[in-house]
Amino acid sequence: MRQIWKTFLLTRAKRRRMTFVITEPCIKCKYMDCVSVCPVNCFYEGENMLVISPDGCIDCGLCEPECPVEAIKSDTETGLEKWRELNAACAAIWPNICVKGEPPADADQFKDEEGKFDKYFSKAPGGA
Ligand code: SF4
Ligand code: F3S
Repeated sequence: MRQIWKTFLLTRAKRRRMTFVITEPCIKCKYMDCVSVCPVNCFYEGENMLVISPDGCIDCGLCEPECPVEAIKSDTETGLEKWRELNAACAAIWPNICVKGEPPADADQFKDEEGKFDKYFSKAPGGA
């Protein structure tokens, strides 16, 4: 059954060639509920956020509803060019993450904050 599901997802991905991206609300929150549902392990970890590899994502959409701060968006939405580029660039240099880790102890303090990219974005890899 699992194999059938995987084959279905891969076939659909080949047809559509779209992806999901992680955006600003993830910064300093990094809850990581998204990690455990991904069938192809295409999350990559930075110091204070995750990104999705556009080469690995099969557009299944399973991760999108898992994020408590709605940071995961389909790249078909408008205005996401900056985040598409950032996800691709950081996925190439950050380590892969397949298992949910411990979110930052102060994650909830940053849930509703705006302008997090300018204030806190870090290019440093996570998983240290
Ligand atoms: Fe993984 Fe989300 Fe892409 Fe599905 S949509 S393959 S869960 S990153
Ligand atoms: Fe970030 Fe949301 Fe995943 S905060 S780590 S995209 S669950």
